[in-house]
Amino acid sequence: MDQLEQLREELLAEVANASDSVSLDAVRVSALGKKGRVTAMMKGLGGMDPEARKATGQALNVLKGEISNALEARKTLLEENEISVRLAEETIDVSLPVRPEQEGLLHPISQTIEEVAEIFAPMGFEVAEGPDIEDDFHNFTALNFPPDHPAREMHDTFFLPLKEDGTRHLLRTHTSPVQVRVMQNTKPPIRILAPGRTYRCDYDITHTPMFHQVEGLVIDKAVHMGHLKSCIIEFVKAYFEVENLPIRFRPSYFPFTEPSAEVDIGCSRENGELKIGAGADWLEILGCGMVHPNVLRSSGIDPDEYQGFAFGLGVERIAMLKYGIPDLRTFFDSDLRWLRHYGFAALDVPTLAGGLSR
Ligand code: DAH
Repeated sequence: MDQLEQLREELLAEVANASDSVSLDAVRVSALGKKGRVTAMMKGLGGMDPEARKATGQALNVLKGEISNALEARKTLLEENEISVRLAEETIDVSLPVRPEQEGLLHPISQTIEEVAEIFAPMGFEVAEGPDIEDDFHNFTALNFPPDHPAREMHDTFFLPLKEDGTRHLLRTHTSPVQVRVMQNTKPPIRILAPGRTYRCDYDITHTPMFHQVEGLVIDKAVHMGHLKSCIIEFVKAYFEVENLPIRFRPSYFPFTEPSAEVDIGCSRENGELKIGAGADWLEILGCGMVHPNVLRSSGIDPDEYQGFAFGLGVERIAMLKYGIPDLRTFFDSDLRWLRHYGFAALDVPTLAGGLSR
């Protein structure tokens, strides 16, 4: 019995001295593990006479319980300590005032997306999102691109490796697949804006392999082209903040809209300088149209009951036009000097009342 008492004291001391969860676990194994000291004594019970076996067995069970409890209590304590230490180390005081000497500016892409969302929000548009890695169905098929149609090539798609079942994912070439995802999951009326990254295998002064678009979609029972036109006109005027900006809708083609149009705004080019506003020239800024019945059908919406319009615009393009940024590639150079020149103060949230870009 003395031997047991000694073991008890030794083990409890070891538990109390364990300073972290790893050494505590080593103590547990050395006491209660398969080859542990208590376990070894349990194994010795078989060789004892019945009287001694009973008494020693009971005492060993009590000891085992006591050590388990001590291990558990120590474990909880150590864990609590570890959490307190981490909390103390990782403290961030969110109430500290902004430090103007600290660099940190909003990229013109973020600013432009905020501005677009700010203009459409009062018209009832909610922001929606979809994945950058898409499947062929959402990026092409559901949007009425026929199989093997050259329009699929038109987009210079980045494909992911072929899977065993013969299909392959791709990087979305436009934000239009978000239309399909939203329609699949939402009962109309629908009014969404989907900003996000898009990808095409192309690189020159006006193309980068990754760029941004904002998609718009409106679906309801009696939505018509007049709604589309007024919505776009309202947007363009608010975004460019130019009085009497000429706007025209020019017939165009997209597989997912019928009829389709491209929207141009007036501009002038004098001495190589592009100026937005009344002038001799036109500049294309977005694509739009009435959602094709095939697209509605593929997305689980009855074209005999619902119709709607969609539009898509390039974020870099409208940012370059508004803020006079000449080269698209500089957007993604991560050059701090560029950001200091073209960036926006993080707390200057664009509002319609306060002026979008001030
Ligand atoms: N997805 C088209 C593109 O990337 C842009 C677009 C055009 C979107 C017309 C639309 C639309 O929703 O109606 O070129």
